[in-house]
Amino acid sequence: ESTQIIGIGIIMYLQNPSDITVKFNVKKGSGSTVIFCVERLAQRFKSESLNIRACIPTSFQATQLILEAGLPLAELNAHPVIDVAFDGADEIDPSLNCIKGGGGCHLQEKLVAAAAKKFVIVADYNKDSPALGTKWTKGIPVEVIPMAYVTIQNKIKTLKGKSALRMGAPAKAGPAVTDSGNLILDVFMSNLKGDNAVLETSQILKMIPGVVETGLFVGMAGWAYIGLEDGWV
Ligand code: A5P
Repeated sequence: ESTQIIGIGIIMYLQNPSDITVKFNVKKGSGSTVIFCVERLAQRFKSESLNIRACIPTSFQATQLILEAGLPLAELNAHPVIDVAFDGADEIDPSLNCIKGGGGCHLQEKLVAAAAKKFVIVADYNKDSPALGTKWTKGIPVEVIPMAYVTIQNKIKTLKGKSALRMGAPAKAGPAVTDSGNLILDVFMSNLKGDNAVLETSQILKMIPGVVETGLFVGMAGWAYIGLEDGWV
């Protein structure tokens, strides 16, 4: 019986569970760690006929990556149960809770991760942190409905937090707009140390009307492959 796996929302059917070992070098300054996963999976898909059935993207960029790599692209609705999802992270704490959404795609990333039987983080040593908010100092990315962003910012103030509307890249005037047409608030809350604080913050933010999703991934990742300075995991 074949083993089913996924990378970056890639559903793969492998001959042998040991095939899941992924070794990758870390290039400093790389914009997206998960690219290394896609490259390796595509290589094995072609050279070893790795039995990848479908790849579910977590963003427009992931869609392009999958297509360029020659991997089979598919939709989450067509494959609602994903074998394994691989993704990067902006920060990882000792319990493998993560902050994600530096690239503004945490809503789709969370949908894919939540549908996956296994969620695996790939990141470099800079993301390995004793507590969320220690190394990633740009706040928790929170995707919000545009018509309510000021209301949500006011609510965050009453919770003793701060937030900033994320602006677009230099080439674009105005705010950053997500793949789903929403806005992003980068939110600073006081304490993210420990599982309870992370969970509580995630729940409090999620309960604000107009918040679509937060970049706090609590208790979702089961594995983290951390790339070391010498280029090995
Ligand atoms: C995208 O929205 C993020 O969640 C990314 O997964 C995260 O920012 C990690 O990206 P890098 O691997 O490029 O640091």
